[in-house]
Amino acid sequence: MKIVIIGGTGLIGSKTVPILRQGGHEVVAASPKSGVNTITGEGLKDVLAGTQVVIDLANSPSFEDKAVLEFFETSGRNLHPAEAAAGVRHHVALSIVGIDRTDNGYFRAKVAQEKLIETSGIPYTIIRSTQFLEFLGGIADSSADGNMVRLSPSLFQPIAADDVAAIVADVAVAAPRRGIVEIAGPERAPFNEIVSRYLKVVGDPREVVRDPEAGYWGGRVEERSLVPLGEARLGRIGLEEWLRRSQARA
Ligand SMILES: NC(=O)c1ccc[n+]([C@@H]2O[C@H](COP(=O)([O-])OP(=O)(O)OC[C@H]3O[C@@H](n4cnc5c(N)ncnc54)[C@H](OP(=O)(O)O)[C@@H]3O)[C@@H](O)[C@H]2O)c1
Repeated sequence: MKIVIIGGTGLIGSKTVPILRQGGHEVVAASPKSGVNTITGEGLKDVLAGTQVVIDLANSPSFEDKAVLEFFETSGRNLHPAEAAAGVRHHVALSIVGIDRTDNGYFRAKVAQEKLIETSGIPYTIIRSTQFLEFLGGIADSSADGNMVRLSPSLFQPIAADDVAAIVADVAVAAPRRGIVEIAGPERAPFNEIVSRYLKVVGDPREVVRDPEAGYWGGRVEERSLVPLGEARLGRIGLEEWLRRSQARA
């Protein structure tokens, strides 16, 4: 099967490409660096010729509210008609658990991305994932105030990029679900506790403060805003195992 991965050079994309190639598929890692740009439309027609499955793992270069919304809207408006013209049979995209339960600019942009997929007419599967373990350092930085990191005790269930990539590859070669599947890491614990464990192991001296009023990227979060509420497929790599693997790779 010919599978095009938009954003195939990114964190999840670069881990998904080899899994599908090992499965015997013809996989193209498409991104601006290889001349495929969903914002300008450059290279889309050529790369999609003869493609059965498109996996969209692109991300906006800017996370500023307006820029990220424009990125996902423009990208979808260019990509979906090009996929329809090429006869693509399955569109897979990676979204985020809870985007319609808490409000921030990035989540609003992912809601807009999902709406465009649902109305595109192309058979699809949206995978809503919890936060990647690889994102923990960025979360700590964004919540830091000098030596203190203020985080809500709302529940958190991060997943390793390796687990995400394995599930994305699996979903891509299965039949379109015409709906949403949710995925999460194997452990669920309060946000402040997970980030505190992470900072201790990586030797970061900042202190995590439990703050029920702390939001998530500016949005208010309740106890279960960021975790799956129903059935979810779980990854296998927990925080300690992920830290061991990251340190072994360093
Ligand atoms: N971070 C999280 O915790 C989390 C959780 C759930 C879901 N997600 C979603 O997961 C997806 C993948 O995230 P990631 O962290 O793997 O992304 P990433 O590492 O930031 O990679 C972004 C990719 O998008 C490509 N790209 C940028 N602009 C493009 C354009 N105009 N046209 C085509 N491709 C473009 C980049 O290509 P170049 O290499 O050429 O620049 C790169 O391959 C995102 O949609 C994100 O919303 C993230």
